Amino acid sequence: MKVIALNGSPHRSGNTAYALNVVGKVLRGEGIDFEIVEIGGTQIRGCLACGQCAKRQDGKCSTTSDLVNDTLLKMKEADGILIASPVYYSGIAGTMKCFLDRAFYVASANGGWFRHKVGASVVAVRRSGGSMTFDSLNHYLSLSEMLVPTANYWNIIHGRAAGEASQDAEGNQVMEVLGSNMAWLLRMREQGHNTEPHAVEKVFTNFVR
Ligand SMILES: Cc1cc2nc3c(=O)[nH]c(=O)nc-3n(C[C@H](O)[C@H](O)[C@H](O)COP(=O)(O)O)c2cc1C
Repeated sequence: MKVIALNGSPHRSGNTAYALNVVGKVLRGEGIDFEIVEIGGTQIRGCLACGQCAKRQDGKCSTTSDLVNDTLLKMKEADGILIASPVYYSGIAGTMKCFLDRAFYVASANGGWFRHKVGASVVAVRRSGGSMTFDSLNHYLSLSEMLVPTANYWNIIHGRAAGEASQDAEGNQVMEVLGSNMAWLLRMREQGHNTEPHAVEKVFTNFVR
């Protein structure tokens, strides 16, 4: 089994990466492959709302100049996905938001690639806005019918400068518990594969007609 983790921070060794590595250490200890893909330090433009991914049904975003399409394939193959962001102005860091809007739109418009994969969100923050950012990240997972493991508090770690998160004892425990629960849910999912409920045809209304 494999988990792909997306680091939405431009810092490869910052607090977001630190939190992901705490989760990843537990997952690896449970025999699950774990890979971090760096998102926040790259150039990713926002969704153009062109609808080409839905029209063409080729599983690709029409913007091909960045790592969105390649990373999408890794996410499609993975059993679990971790999406992580530092808090910027009480929300998801901009580059990560651009990535998530496009990746999750393509995946859902092409048959629901992430349906019943295990998915969780992780947030790094200095002081305020952690819960809002955690909620925002979770919207991508819940809309995709993903199976979301929890921890013993919300998946938020505190720190400002890179590495400070290592001093947040409660945040570290939250990430470890998340890793254990994620590993368990991955194994349950594997065992229950034959009993998976069928996808329904989506009802799509705009409330204007
Ligand atoms: C542009 C910007 C906006 C930020 N906004 C907030 C904020 O709204 N609330 C907060 O507590 N910290 C804020 N921070 C601090 C980061 O969330 C914090 O330092 C975090 O640990 C960085 O994670 P990283 O090391 O993975 O990049 C902001 C930092 C930057 C660069």
